[in-house]
This record gives sequence, C-alpha cells and structure tokens, in this order.
Amino acid sequence: MVITENQSLKHTNTFGIDIFAKRYVEVRSVEELKEIIKIAKQDNSEILVIGSGSNILFTKNYNGLIVKNDIQGIEVLEEKDNDVFVKAGAGVLWDDLVEFCVDNNYWGVENLSLIPGTVGAAPIQNIGAYGVELSDSFYSLNGVFLDSLNTKTFYKNEIQFGYRNSIFKGELKGRFIITEVILKLSKIPKPVLTYRELKSVDSSAISLSGIRNKIIEIRKSKLPDPGKLGNAGSFFKNPVVDGKLFLPLKRKYKSIVYFEVGKNKYKISAGWLIENCGYKGKKVGNVGCYEKQALIIVNYGKATGDEVYKFSKNIQKEVKQKFGILLIPEVNII
Ligand code: FAD
Ligand code: EPU
Repeated sequence: MVITENQSLKHTNTFGIDIFAKRYVEVRSVEELKEIIKIAKQDNSEILVIGSGSNILFTKNYNGLIVKNDIQGIEVLEEKDNDVFVKAGAGVLWDDLVEFCVDNNYWGVENLSLIPGTVGAAPIQNIGAYGVELSDSFYSLNGVFLDSLNTKTFYKNEIQFGYRNSIFKGELKGRFIITEVILKLSKIPKPVLTYRELKSVDSSAISLSGIRNKIIEIRKSKLPDPGKLGNAGSFFKNPVVDGKLFLPLKRKYKSIVYFEVGKNKYKISAGWLIENCGYKGKKVGNVGCYEKQALIIVNYGKATGDEVYKFSKNIQKEVKQKFGILLIPEVNII
C-alpha cells in the first residue's frame, strides 16, 4: 500500500474534474482496508471510499484520504439446479462481472451491461437500466464499518433497496465500506424485454449475448463516452410524484414523458423536464447538457466542479419554477 500526498484525481472521476486529494491510497484486500482505516483514525483524517468515480462530482479539493477500492476476484460460490451464486470483489469493474455472467450463461444482469463503475458501488444506488435493477439479482454483500472496523454481511431484505436508493445512501451513508457482493443468478433463461427499445428483439431468437450486444449498442448511441466527454451519467433522478402534482401538469403539457409506477405514483422523465426548460444541448462556459440527453451534464474539458455544480443548481431552479418539481441529484456531490 502506497499513500500518496497531494494526488490529482483528474483520472479518478469520470467528470474529469481536475482537483486534488490531500492523501490517496489503493487497497487490494480487507486487511489493507482495515489497516488504512486505523491509520486515518490515528491522524484524525476523513475517509472517502471510491470505485471508478463515475457517480461523483468533486466541487473542491478533498482535504482527507481517498481510498480507491481495488479488491479483485470473481468466483462461483455454489451451483444449484436452477440458480448460481457468484461472488465478486468490490473493486471488480461492474461490466467485467456482467460479461462473466453472460459468458457462463447466468441470467439476471445482462440488461445492466456497460454501466460504468465497480461492483462495490453498485448496491449504493441500486444501479438500474432497461427494466432491471441490481436488487433483482442481489443476494448479499460483505463489508466493514468505518467506526468499529467490525465486518458484517447484509442480506437483500436488510438493504432497503429502492429506485436509485439503499440504506447506504441513508442511515449508513459514509459509514460502511463494501468489500464483496454476492449475486444470485438464474441458469434458466429469464429475459426482460419490457423496455421500449428492447421490445423489437425477436423473443424466439434471444440469447444472453444478443441482449448484451443490443444494450451495448443502445447505450453507445445515447450516452456520452466519459473517455471523450466528462460526465457521470444521469445527473438527477427521475422524480416520482403523486397525482395531485402530476395530473394538472399532464393536462397542461400533453407530451410530458412519464410512467405510472404505482397507485397514484408517476415517474416523470427528468430529461424531458430539463429539455423543456431549453437545456438540451445548451452550453454555458465549460459545462452543458448533452445534445442527445438533457439529463446528462457534460464537462467540455476544463470545467471546475463548482462550475458543474452551479450549472446543475440553475437547472434545478428553472425546473422547479416551471413545473413545481424539485429534481434531486443522483450524483454524489462532494
Ligand atoms: P463512485 O462514483 O466511485 O462512487 C459512488 C458512491 O459510492 C460514492 O458515494 C462512494 O463513496 C460510494 N462507494 C463507492 N465504492 C464504495 C464501496 N466499496 N463501499 C462503500 N461506498 C462506496 N448508473 C445507473 O444506475 N444506471 C445507468 O444506466 C448508469 N449509466 C451511466 C452512464 C455513464 C456514462 C456514467 C458515467 C455513469 C452511469 N451511471 C449509471 C452511474 C454510475 O455508473 C453508477 O452509479 C456506478 O455504480 C458508480 O460506480 P463507481 O465505482 O464509479 O462509484
Ligand atoms: N427524454 C426527453 N428528453 C431528453 C431525455 C429523455 O424527452 O433529453 C425522454 C424521451 O422520451 C426518452 C425518455 O425520456 O425516451 C427516457 O429516456 P432514457 O431512455 O434515456 O432514460 P432516462 O429515464 O433518461 C434512465 C436512467 C439511466 C438509464 C436509462 C435506461 C435515471 C435517472 N436514469 O434514464 O441511468 O441508463 O434510464 O434505463 O433513472 C444513470 O443513472 O446514470 C443512468 C444513465
């Protein structure tokens, strides 16, 4: 383990924000993680654990210790007639795990192909795409409490998974470090083709690799590649509102994009709201909304974190003024 001082994080966050961490370290095992937590405690240093930095906006230099989780390994734990349990280290790239599952004919996470980031961060916001969420295939996770250094296994029913939400964004925010995740996958085909763009897939010819390739194709056509244009995916969550707020809006704005997600509950496309405030493709200085997807804020190269943050606050203000809806950031703002 090498702790570096005054480390640039430009290549450790997909927004490409050029800021510095007072101290930075990469950990490759639970033992290393525990050791580094002890060191930080002795120095009274704040800790932030990161994976690939694809859901983080740094607004200023970080005055503590950044711990990049690099715990590796993918292993089949147990096979049953219909199910299989697969364990992966928190530092494994999420898409490498998806590829492993697809190559081995394990169903469940193929719709989550090409989501950036690490396995350890996936439960934090319960990653989701194309009709599937991590929680659908999640079994358990292991990790370490920052304050006590005690380890704990959390099972699915303890994690309070919701839309882009979990206990780790609530009462355990910043208090628990995930070190490995166990998925329960199906050996029996379970295609989910409910998402509009997947409905055209011929269901008699579907295969895991076919679905994965289709998802990759859709994502590449819609989302900016952070290697070329800094971004952290959707900046805000899609708001879920009740009929009292939604129905008058629906009467006023006939083209509003939404899904009914429960009794008297409507999930509205944040991209549509932002686009209809004139932000799609809009650029202010070094920051803008992506031309194909207004929900994605992009860094045109030299943006500071503060610039991105202020731009996001303006979007939030205008959407609130026009539609009466407060957009909540999905991205973790540090
Ligand atoms: P980071 O950004 O490094 O961290 C995110 C948060 O998790 C931080 O608060 C961090 O402190 C915490 N954290 C990280 N690792 C751990 C750990 N081991 N233990 C405890 N806390 C931890 N998300 C979706 O859900 N669906 C999508 O379709 C999607 N598409 C995207 C497309 C693009 C182009 C981009 C850039 C992002 C997209 N995202 C999407 C968001 C992002 O990929 C996910 O949120 C991903 O899970 C973040 O992983 P990460 O390793 O980069 O986490
Ligand atoms: N739309 C607009 N204008 C826009 C963008 C979208 O009108 O600028 C409308 C269109 O009608 C479009 C619809 O919204 O068809 C839905 O857009 P899209 O399929 O891109 O999905 P999204 O709701 O904007 C969500 C997730 C994405 C995930 C996709 C696919 C959230 C916050 N975002 O986006 O996740 O990949 O669905 O399932 O839920 C992320 O979390 O970072 C992320 C990229």
